Amino acid sequence: MPSLTTETDAADETPPACTASPTTRAVREAHDRYVFPVVQTFYDEPMPIVRGQGKHVWDADGGQYLDFFGGILTVGLGHCHPEVNHAIREQVDTLQHVSTLFPNQPMVQVAEQLARIAPGDCDRSFFTNSGTEANEFALLVAEVHTGRGEILALRHGYSGRSRLTMGATGQAPWRLGAGAAAGIRHVANAYCYRCPFGLEYPSCDLRCARDIEDVIRTTTSGRIAGFIAEPIQGVGGFITPPPGYFEVAVEIVRRHGGLFICDEIQTGFGRTGGTLNGIGHWDVEPDIVTYAKGLGNGVPVAATVARSEVAASLEGNTLSTFGGNPVSMAAARAVIEVVERDDLAENAARVGVVLRNGLEELAERHPRIGDVRGKGLMQALEFVEDRVSKTPDAAFTARLLQCARDEGLLIGKGGLYGNCVRISPPLNIEADDARDALDRLDRALSAAEAAFR
Ligand SMILES: Cc1ncc(COP(=O)(O)O)c(C=O)c1O
Repeated sequence: MPSLTTETDAADETPPACTASPTTRAVREAHDRYVFPVVQTFYDEPMPIVRGQGKHVWDADGGQYLDFFGGILTVGLGHCHPEVNHAIREQVDTLQHVSTLFPNQPMVQVAEQLARIAPGDCDRSFFTNSGTEANEFALLVAEVHTGRGEILALRHGYSGRSRLTMGATGQAPWRLGAGAAAGIRHVANAYCYRCPFGLEYPSCDLRCARDIEDVIRTTTSGRIAGFIAEPIQGVGGFITPPPGYFEVAVEIVRRHGGLFICDEIQTGFGRTGGTLNGIGHWDVEPDIVTYAKGLGNGVPVAATVARSEVAASLEGNTLSTFGGNPVSMAAARAVIEVVERDDLAENAARVGVVLRNGLEELAERHPRIGDVRGKGLMQALEFVEDRVSKTPDAAFTARLLQCARDEGLLIGKGGLYGNCVRISPPLNIEADDARDALDRLDRALSAAEAAFR
């Protein structure tokens, strides 16, 4: 069972989460009745979250959980971070909205921060409200800049919910509706655990990256607008390309006249450890980079940041009613200040080692763990029925998620086959928090195994 104590009142006697309170039941019923049924929720009996503080959240029945998923890698500084909330409160009482028709100070401050910390020469920002919009805009900018319409995307990638970004997404379950957007070709991804070419790194000589040339020559006009990729595939299950991958891939893309669009929506701002941008682990510079999620620590905000020359290609009129909203921008400004001031990229690297070592140690004792991967505080486990066949074990993964919740630990699910768990705690946790989560995960693994015996 989740720990039922709260930080404010440890003695509070609250009902266990499994005996759902009237509030929980009412929220579930209203969700079932009034929300699009396609909206996915975790667990057989989804629980409404009513409060968050730091690394913890509480459900409507008082159950306390260690949140190691952070609302899909979004709450990077922990829930209700005091400095971010202070910035929001101050701004909301000063000026709440103007639209992009009027420059506002928080917006230009964030644009300036991003020009400094975005990779390479990306220094022009366009602000929106979601990762989907940031990627949609990035793809548009690449097409306009190059005057070409064909885009390369990665299999197992996730780019968003609009028609174009769903078209770029490389996973059938997330591509709703009948058709995908035209002009997008999906190249093999760097999925070393399930190498699309049946090879092994490094003797593979990065065949997956080199295959991009073949895809360009055989499935496009040869004139591509760009290549969109996440440094580590988030929804794909934290699939992590090996050293050298992006260097080879991007060289091929550029040689064919395309731009490199780097989707930092999950990897952005210290998450992968030791570098603010996930792409910092490879020696390449994007032409366009996109941010969302962790940029606002929970406030809806996104940015498309491009090289000046690329940004200048877009002519005509554009606006975003809520893009650059002063309140969202005040939050983003505070997030970036805290990440930099507290050197959270270094903390993610340091605590990430503890987490990673612990996960590898769990893999020695729990044979359904087929792969451990990721960087920094972005770590995943991939579950298989056995390590020889590598048959994805989605049923076990679902059970584990439930058992982890029973241990008071929230982790995420992912992967095309639904057989990965994603672990992405706040960037400011300490080594003991990672150990605590590992202990809970160990117990959850044993409980899930017992159920499958
Ligand atoms: C890598 C990546 N890109 C884009 C998106 C889309 O972001 P949003 O859900 O904010 O539209 C997501 C969302 O999970 C993502 O993980």
